[in-house]
Amino acid sequence: MTPSTGYALEIVNLKKAFGGLPVTQDVTLSIRPGERRLIIGPNGAGKTTLFNQITGDMRPNSGQIRLFGTDVTQFTPYKRAHFGLSRTYQIITLFAQDTLEHNVTLGLLGLRPSRWQMWRPLSYYGDLTSEARRTLDSVGLLHLAAHPVSDIAYGEKRRVELAMALAQKPRVLLLDEPLAGLSNTERFAIKSLIAAIPRETAVIMIEHDMDTALDLAETVTLLNYGRVIVDGERDKVIADKRTREVYLGT
Ligand SMILES: Nc1ncnc2c1ncn2[C@@H]1O[C@H](COP(=O)(O)OP(=O)(O)OP(=O)(O)O)[C@@H](O)[C@H]1O
Ligand SMILES: [Mg+2]
Repeated sequence: MTPSTGYALEIVNLKKAFGGLPVTQDVTLSIRPGERRLIIGPNGAGKTTLFNQITGDMRPNSGQIRLFGTDVTQFTPYKRAHFGLSRTYQIITLFAQDTLEHNVTLGLLGLRPSRWQMWRPLSYYGDLTSEARRTLDSVGLLHLAAHPVSDIAYGEKRRVELAMALAQKPRVLLLDEPLAGLSNTERFAIKSLIAAIPRETAVIMIEHDMDTALDLAETVTLLNYGRVIVDGERDKVIADKRTREVYLGT
């Protein structure tokens, strides 16, 4: 175990390629506890791939990932979740045919769907079912607990996923395009939930909707072709000539 550095998350010289095509190129980043970081960059810049390596869903080719000073590069996603890391996905990962309550209960365990044991009755999970109901209540969806996920609206699914990630009381939370595809009303609801996240949680958010996301961000990282192009305090990154060239197209 390496000694604590004071950072919530550190990424050091991370590299990842798919079939010889580099998608993470020497990425080095440090996130402080409680920081609000926005990750921007064009489609295919490697944003989601970076998240996948932080969570352990994908292994980097080289480099290191540290959570609160501990090298977690070789840890499984499950072990990282127990280390205070939680995420939402760009694509909804709830089980459509299963009830909201069952989805949330299993999600609270920090389990990936592949590890879910669907044959176990909810009673097997004891206290977690009441926590699942509290989680649904926190996003105003308790009345739908017994409904299959396929019955509820897209924006409601997004709320459930965010509430599930938050119920794990993460110290580092990764949000992959939480506002994508939402109506104005739904966007407002999700934005309020994100704004209310406790300060002890560091939030790292990938988002294309800059108008909404910039309000929530203190620092911004611009990625392009898997590289960090600009990184730092929000207004400085937005004013940077390279940001306008790469992302804003002006
Ligand atoms: N499992 C995979 N196998 C092969 N190539 C992949 C894989 N995952 C991602 N890629 C490629 O890596 C590149 C970066 O993809 P990634 O999903 O990280 O981009 P992104 O910045 O999240 O884009 P978007 O804004 O569209 O979500 C893309 O060219 C993509 O096709
Ligand atoms: Mg993506």
